[in-house]
Amino acid sequence: MKLFLDSANLVEIEACLKRGILQGITTNPSLLSKEPKADFIEHIRKIVALCEKYNQIISLSVEVFTRKPSEMVKQALQFIEAVPYKNLAIKIPMGWDELEAVHTLALKGISVNCTCLFTEAQCVLAANAGARYVSIFMARLKDISGDAPAVISNTRRILDLAKSQAEIIVGSIRHERDIVDAQIAGAHIVTAGAAYLTKMTSHPQTTKSVEGFLKDFEAWLK
Ligand code: E4P
Repeated sequence: MKLFLDSANLVEIEACLKRGILQGITTNPSLLSKEPKADFIEHIRKIVALCEKYNQIISLSVEVFTRKPSEMVKQALQFIEAVPYKNLAIKIPMGWDELEAVHTLALKGISVNCTCLFTEAQCVLAANAGARYVSIFMARLKDISGDAPAVISNTRRILDLAKSQAEIIVGSIRHERDIVDAQIAGAHIVTAGAAYLTKMTSHPQTTKSVEGFLKDFEAWLK
């Protein structure tokens, strides 16, 4: 089960790298905007430095922030040049004009994470254009009463039938239960905020069991 951390926060990233639980990291402009104002590339380089520090050269998605599809390839190539990291994926949002950027980058051998996807059709277009990842936004789809599990499982079925190399990333997680639900629905990867990954560890029966074992053992030692 592939887990990505959905964060640009260096403390959260290091905490997860220390636990060896990640197969990737996804960022987006909003996540960057939550961090102390800094040079964008410098901040991404700090994330890369953490991955290298823990010898975890995992997928790192960085999203273009130009509004002009015609500028997206240029900005993507600037990222690639400025951040020499072999597992960098460039996030390109879905759109008719944006698909040209997806395809151009894919033809250059650059991993593209096509993002802001809400339908099977969008995922098919992104995968056909050459996207390495297709990112479905689960909670945002549920916000408008969309059937997120169905979109995930239908997309998985379509990609599998087509023997596509594209992987589904499910993002926009608002509860730790969404992580498992997305995997069960067919997501190859789920990307979630640190708070949800932390919450995945806890269960009242776990706490009760550990406490019980320790109490029994301590009583035996007396
Ligand atoms: C994933 O890469 C997305 O950018 C992210 O999960 C979106 O989550 P949000 O709906 O909480 O902004």
